[in-house]
Amino acid sequence: MIKVKLCSGKACTDAGTQKILKKWLLEYFSEDEIGEHPCLGLCHNNFSILYNDKAYSIVSPKALKRLIEK
Ligand code: FES
Repeated sequence: MIKVKLCSGKACTDAGTQKILKKWLLEYFSEDEIGEHPCLGLCHNNFSILYNDKAYSIVSPKALKRLIEK
C-alpha cells in the first residue's frame, strides 16, 4: 500500500532532488509504500512529497524525521 508519494513533476525531477529524497524515505518506508504524484505545486523548493494528503517540501533528513514522527 502506498503511504507516501514523491513528486514526479519536471521541476523536481530535473533538479535531481527526488533521488536523494527517495533514499531518505527508504529509511522509513519500503519500496512498495513509495509512489509518485504529478507536480505538487512546490516547484520552487523541489524535494516535494505528498504525505497524509498534504504536500511538503522536505529539504533534509532531519525535516523528514520531524514530519514522520509528528
Ligand atoms: S514539479 Fe515537484 S512540486 Fe512541482
